[in-house]
Amino acid sequence: MENITKICCIGAGYVGGPTMAMIAKKCPHIQVTVVDLNEARIKAWNDEDVNNIPVYEPGLSDVVAEARGRNLFFSTEVDKAIDEAQMIFISVNTPTKTYGAGKGQAADLKWIELCARQIANISKDNKIIVEKSTLPVRTASAIKDILTHTGNGVQFQILSNPEFLAEGTAVEDLDAPDRVLIGGDNTPEGKVAVQALVDIYANWVPKERILTTNVWSSELSKLTANAFLAQRVSSINSLTEICEQTEADINEVAKAIGTDSRIGPKFLKASVGFGGSCFQKDILNLVYIARSYGLQEVADYWEQVIIMNDHQKRRFANQIIKNLYNTVNGKKIAFFGWAFKKDTNDTRESAAIYVADHLLNEQAHISVYDPKVPENQVYADLDYLNTREAEENKAGVQVITDPYEACKGSHAIAVLTEWDEFKGYDWQRIYDNMLKPAKIFDGRNLLDADKLRAIGFQVRSIGTNVLDK
Ligand code: UDX
Ligand code: ADP
Repeated sequence: MENITKICCIGAGYVGGPTMAMIAKKCPHIQVTVVDLNEARIKAWNDEDVNNIPVYEPGLSDVVAEARGRNLFFSTEVDKAIDEAQMIFISVNTPTKTYGAGKGQAADLKWIELCARQIANISKDNKIIVEKSTLPVRTASAIKDILTHTGNGVQFQILSNPEFLAEGTAVEDLDAPDRVLIGGDNTPEGKVAVQALVDIYANWVPKERILTTNVWSSELSKLTANAFLAQRVSSINSLTEICEQTEADINEVAKAIGTDSRIGPKFLKASVGFGGSCFQKDILNLVYIARSYGLQEVADYWEQVIIMNDHQKRRFANQIIKNLYNTVNGKKIAFFGWAFKKDTNDTRESAAIYVADHLLNEQAHISVYDPKVPENQVYADLDYLNTREAEENKAGVQVITDPYEACKGSHAIAVLTEWDEFKGYDWQRIYDNMLKPAKIFDGRNLLDADKLRAIGFQVRSIGTNVLDK
């Protein structure tokens, strides 16, 4: 294949948008077109004011501003972009199935399959197809099957190039990745395709950080990386419960074990539970794959990471109820944060959703403040659970754009996301406007508990056994 000069990416979401923006920035000689069926999303990516792009990521607006209109384009003309591109990234959503076989576990590959069929129908010349979405192992072979049997004699090479960026730090992660992983076939044509993608990344990523493997290793490595990370969070969270029963403090334990260079300090922050679009989905995929090969022990082993995470979310909600004298009926509880972590407006699988759901079952009134999540998203997240009617969610939850208003007259504040701005609030003012005793449940160990206690708050932080000293 000749040098790549035209790339297209199907899917302008949290992965496709930032990744393509970075490729366009680093490779001015390559024309990058990002397409999506969602017109509103594309319109937002094209908004004159780059601050209105649909994905909030620190630094991303500048990257888009630099490349958009030069060699970065956002469009709804999917067919045209496929036709013109030599290399096509597939970056569409692959949610967990909500119906039929594998419901609640397997990835729904409907959108991937539709993409593959569309590519097969339109392509008139040879193309390289790159899987960018997180996918179950062996998806590449399914895509290949569709492409080779429905295409019109055109040759396709399928590569797996999993994305390791984390939300909130997407721009840094893309700019200086720990590694780029590219999986391809071990045939001469496969190797040429792998090299074509290596050449693109080599425009800014040092060669030794670009790893090449076979397709299946690449697919499995992506699931495994996320499973390991999630496992660390569940491991530390499992210990918070021991800490709360004893005199141990989870922050001290995390620090003590994290200094062992074999363990390392990252991903040891105790929390109300991990969220995000990847961890749970990828582990469920791993579990599903293991079960489908009859590997029960392997499946059970990884499933425990999710069981622990669900337990942690439920436990946090139950602690709130217990500490509010076993009833939250009619009580106002303020949520600080709704996003699944700071510096993102993404709420997928956020612990806040499940904690809120649990408290709503107990008839609590919740007022939510999050610096980046809009009101309609909060309701959409709760409605998606199908626990109760949309009107009931509306009645039980208020979304408020001012943090001081959100906690005025409340019995308690629950910190669900570790946004930096929470630390800098005027906590005396907050205290003065709350019902007493004023309680804080810090699900992120974010706030300075001693300072808050000095004001008069009763504070419960995850993984410590003191409610108030
Ligand atoms: C993750 C992977 O990190 C990334 O490589 C992959 O491409 C996609 O999935 P992301 O979901 O964006 O990225 O966020 P991440 O920073 O990994 O956090 C996931 C969840 O774990 C968040 O809810 C976060 O708050 C939680 N977490 C993380 C903890 O509770 N404690 C920690 O120590 C670290
Ligand atoms: P991710 O976090 O994996 O990027 P998102 O849900 O943020 O997931 O983005 C996936 C995007 O893919 C959505 O904007 C969706 O509209 C788009 N999409 C899904 N299927 C297709 C398709 N067949 N053609 C074009 N866009 C698609």
